[in-house]
Amino acid sequence: MVKPELVERAVEVLRSGGVIALPTETVYGLAANAEDELAVRRVFAIKGRPATHPLIVHLAGVEHLTSWAREVPEAARRLADAFWPGPLTLVLPRTPRATDAITGGQDTVALRVPGHPVALAVLKALGGGVAAPSANRFGRVSPTTAEHVRVDLGSDVDLVLDGGPCDVGVESTIVDLSSGSPAILRPGGLSAEAIERVLGHPVPVRVASKVRVSGSLESHYAPRAGVVLAEPTEAAARVRALREQGLSVGVLGPRGLELPGDVPRFDVPEDPAGAARVLYARLREADEKGHDVLVACLPSASGLGIAVRDRLARAAAPRTPHH
Ligand code: TXA
Ligand code: MG
Repeated sequence: MVKPELVERAVEVLRSGGVIALPTETVYGLAANAEDELAVRRVFAIKGRPATHPLIVHLAGVEHLTSWAREVPEAARRLADAFWPGPLTLVLPRTPRATDAITGGQDTVALRVPGHPVALAVLKALGGGVAAPSANRFGRVSPTTAEHVRVDLGSDVDLVLDGGPCDVGVESTIVDLSSGSPAILRPGGLSAEAIERVLGHPVPVRVASKVRVSGSLESHYAPRAGVVLAEPTEAAARVRALREQGLSVGVLGPRGLELPGDVPRFDVPEDPAGAARVLYARLREADEKGHDVLVACLPSASGLGIAVRDRLARAAAPRTPHH
C-alpha cells in the first residue's frame, strides 16, 4: 500500500516542520508534529479553523499515554486497552507536552491511537505524537480517500500518503474522562454500546459547548447542496415535494427504496456500519452532480447509526456564515 520509503519521507517532513495528509481508519488527518508549535499553527491556517478548536494528538501506542496525560483513570485505561488502536479518542488532563497550541489553552488533551497500518508506521517511526484534525477545510465534509484530500487541500500540504479508502468512514468517538463520570462528546466510529459494555454502565452523550468541539457547531460536515433528512418511508414524498418547487434532487439511501423512477440515487446501505463507511464519499459524489437538494435517508439509531444520523443532522443544519 504505502512503501517504507514513503513512511520515511513522511517522518522527515514531520521532523522538519511540514504538514502531511495521513490516512487513518476513520478519516484522513492533516498531520503535524505535535511538539512543533509552528507546524501545529500551520494546520489551523490550512484548515481555516479557529485556534480555539483543539486538535487530537495521535500516538503510536498506549505506552505513550502518560507522557501526554497526567492522570489516567481506571476507566480510561480500560477503554484504551479494549479499543486502541481504533476509532476512540480520550479526553484527559494534559501534561506540559500538550501545549496551548494543540489544546486551545484548555487543561485537557484529546488522545487516540489510530487503527491504520500507515498511520501506525509513521507514528512508530516518528516516536512522538502527531496532532491531526480531519484533512478538510473547516465546516466541510471530511475526506475518506487521498483523492478527497488532494481536491480539498491540494498543494497546501507537503505530502499526501495514500492508504486507500478509510474503513470506518466517520470520525472517532470522543469520550471525556477528564472529570467525574465519562461522557461522549462526539458520537463516532466506536458505538456507545461497545463503550458501555466495557465500562459496565451507561455513558451519556454530552455534546460540549460550541467552542470546545468544532464538530458540534450547528452546520458542519456540509456539502454545497442543501440536505433534507428523511426516514426511508418518507423519501419518495420528500422528493416529489421538492421537485414541485422546481429543485433538482438527488437521494442518498439504500437499494430498494421506492422512488420516482428517474431520481439519481447515491448508494448508502441500510446497515449503519456500511452507511458510515461510504457516507462522506457519497455526499461528495452527489454534490459534484450539482443537485440543489439531497434527500438523505436516516439509518436506524443504533450502533454507528448514531454517528451517521449526527453527521447528517449537521449537514442539514442551517448554514453559518463560513459557508
Ligand atoms: O477520527 C478522528 O477523530 C479524526 C482522525 C484524523 O483522527 N480526527 C478528527 O479531528 O476528527 P477533528 O479535529 O476534526 O476533530 C477533533 C475533535 C474536535 O471537535 C475538537 O474540538 C475535539 O476533538 N477536541 C480536541 N481536544 C479536545 C479537548 N481537550 N476537549 C474536548 N474536545 C476536544
Ligand atoms: Mg473535523
